[in-house]
Amino acid sequence: MKKDVMLLTGAGQIGMAIARRVGYGKKIVVGDKSIENAKTTAATMNNAGFDVVPMEMDLSSRTSILNLIAEAQKYGEISMLVNAAGVSPSQAPIEAILKVDLYGTAVLLEEVGKIIKQGGVGVTISSQSGWRMPALTAEEDMLLATTPTEELLNLDILQPHNIRDTLHAYQMAKRCNEKRVMAEAVKWGTRGARLNDIAPGIIVTPLAIDEFNGPRGDFYKNMFAKCPAGRPGTADEVANVAELLMSDKGAFITGSTILIDGGATSSYFYGPLKPQE
Ligand SMILES: NC(=O)c1ccc[n+]([C@@H]2O[C@H](COP(=O)([O-])OP(=O)(O)OC[C@H]3O[C@@H](n4cnc5c(N)ncnc54)[C@H](O)[C@@H]3O)[C@@H](O)[C@H]2O)c1
Repeated sequence: MKKDVMLLTGAGQIGMAIARRVGYGKKIVVGDKSIENAKTTAATMNNAGFDVVPMEMDLSSRTSILNLIAEAQKYGEISMLVNAAGVSPSQAPIEAILKVDLYGTAVLLEEVGKIIKQGGVGVTISSQSGWRMPALTAEEDMLLATTPTEELLNLDILQPHNIRDTLHAYQMAKRCNEKRVMAEAVKWGTRGARLNDIAPGIIVTPLAIDEFNGPRGDFYKNMFAKCPAGRPGTADEVANVAELLMSDKGAFITGSTILIDGGATSSYFYGPLKPQE
């Protein structure tokens, strides 16, 4: 019997937690720039009764994304997308953050939106980081939401003289993810499909551990100590949200971003995490 396919990009902790929650009964094709990560996740999940095939793919390349989609379609129709691939401010330079997190995500949502099965669902992972930046202008939001993917990286707001550092690049990328999800959800809707975004706070994964040990380590540790929850989150808690968004219980939710950050953003604006003037 042919199974529906889940496309999972990013074989990290968040991606795997979501795939384990909603990927039962599906063929899961997991793409990651690190084939080792893809193989490890596939092995862990196959040993737990899932049906997973690992593939090497690079989210920053349209060719690589199209190749992953074409390979996945050989197994059946793609009815689910989970995009949890990305690089953090301590892991990569500005250019790579924009190419992977901003451009790559936009291309993936666009390309999967063209072929997603009728009634299919997708989630992508942005970040609380995008919520800390001051509001952009309505025109900037519109540009991030709707500029054709191949022109996105030419936008003036993304040029080196307008990006302060890797954290700013990450924030712009994650803000763009939210806007793209809104614009793409309209297109996905013409296929009866839904697309949403989850903006996590600090979730303990290898990516976050790199941040704890990076130049902003103290900043991150302070953030979870002073957020209302008083701790970092787990990938399984992100999967709780994904499960809602991707199940029939979330049938009226599309084009949304759900913040799951233990209240860190609230504390940043109105509590002890508020930056001192
Ligand atoms: N962990 C956190 O605290 C946190 C918070 C907010 C947002 N996020 C976001 O969640 C997503 C998943 O991160 P995670 O915490 O599970 O990290 P992780 O390090 O466990 O997984 C990320 C995966 O993405 C892969 N990857 C990196 N660049 C790639 C590329 N160009 N093409 C394909 N794969 C690539 C890595 O090899 C890795 O397997 C990222 O988008 C990250 O920005 C994480």
